Amino acid sequence: MKVLITGGAGFIGSHTADALIERGDEVVILDNLSKPVHLKGIPPYLNPKARLIVGDVRDAKVFLDALQGVNAVVHLAAYQDYLPDFSTFFSVNSVGTALLYELIVANKLPIRRVVVASSQAVNGEGLYKCEEHGLIGPSARPVDQLERGDWSMKCPQCGRDAEWQWTPESFSHPENQYALSKQSQEQMTLSFGRRYDIPSVALRYSIVQGPRQSFYNAYSGACRIFALHYYFKKAPTIYEDGEMHRDFVNYQDVVKANLMALDNEAMIGEQFNVGGGKAYSVREFDRIVAKISGCDHLEPNIPGVFRFGDTRNSCSDISKLRALGWQPMGSVQQSVQEYVNWLNEQTDVGEIFEFAEKNMRSLNVIREAKP
Ligand SMILES: NC(=O)c1ccc[n+]([C@@H]2O[C@H](COP(=O)([O-])OP(=O)(O)OC[C@H]3O[C@@H](n4cnc5c(N)ncnc54)[C@H](O)[C@@H]3O)[C@@H](O)[C@H]2O)c1
Repeated sequence: MKVLITGGAGFIGSHTADALIERGDEVVILDNLSKPVHLKGIPPYLNPKARLIVGDVRDAKVFLDALQGVNAVVHLAAYQDYLPDFSTFFSVNSVGTALLYELIVANKLPIRRVVVASSQAVNGEGLYKCEEHGLIGPSARPVDQLERGDWSMKCPQCGRDAEWQWTPESFSHPENQYALSKQSQEQMTLSFGRRYDIPSVALRYSIVQGPRQSFYNAYSGACRIFALHYYFKKAPTIYEDGEMHRDFVNYQDVVKANLMALDNEAMIGEQFNVGGGKAYSVREFDRIVAKISGCDHLEPNIPGVFRFGDTRNSCSDISKLRALGWQPMGSVQQSVQEYVNWLNEQTDVGEIFEFAEKNMRSLNVIREAKP
């Protein structure tokens, strides 16, 4: 099979390329090596057996060229950031996906499968349970509540604290530019796929962890920030009270889900959560990174600051994909260990740290509570 991976020079795409090549498939990558993800050009980890086309998924000519002779597409190219350049999210993520289907339909391309990466971000805060009102899907917490240092999620009807739940695919409540663009990708995948008989699958990944995750992308999250701090024997800052819950999924489990979506007929026309199946508080996660980095003597700072737009909890229910035989096998400890090993192999960690710090400050998303 010949597979086109858009965004195949990135973290998940390059591992997916390796796995496909390993099993004997031919791989073409379409990637514009966008910054800051690829601050230093073509990444050295790229599989030499993959054909790299440097180009943009918004460029019809280059996209059509990349699709020639292809049997299946894994569409991963995306813009992910905290920046308020709202239109870029829709231009890359939504328009890129629309163009993919447009080219397949217009040129009657014999594509047997399209797998599109969605995100847990589509869930927003996800589902909660209120003692009195049952299951609810609340909006983001108001900033004035966070400024008072009150971190809990409240029931919008009675104001009582609500409890987070594992959120299934049937729920979505996107609340930022990235999530909205990802939801549009998911909807296009299911609608265009069904309408034009292009077998398609949408995968909603939770936070994916492992080596090759860009050090330069602010969106790479807690693993990068904690690991970088402990590398320099510094204590990281944890936002809110550190009791936010997340599920983390190992990159190899995501690769397995991608390959399964390429092969499994039962997945066609559906969206699936791809998560770790276990919830960790950010405090617990920090201790894992500290231990693996040999820094468990260092305590994190928890000064009561919060990050504008962060969800309180994000945990995906993975029973739908589990029912088809997929299981998350990689532990969080394993993912962090591999990430830390990879960080230790870098020769420019000082530069990476400085870039990360400066970037977060300039984004102006960290706010202080004044209880
Ligand atoms: N990593 C995660 O935790 C996570 C979680 C949920 C969803 N996802 C989704 O998974 C997919 C892959 O994410 P990743 O973590 O590998 O990110 P990544 O940034 O490492 O890879 C994305 C790749 O897309 C390329 N790209 C960006 N804009 C492009 C454009 N206009 N044209 C062509 N290529 C372009 C980048 O150069 C990069 O190589 C994305 O769609 C992302 O939204 C990732």
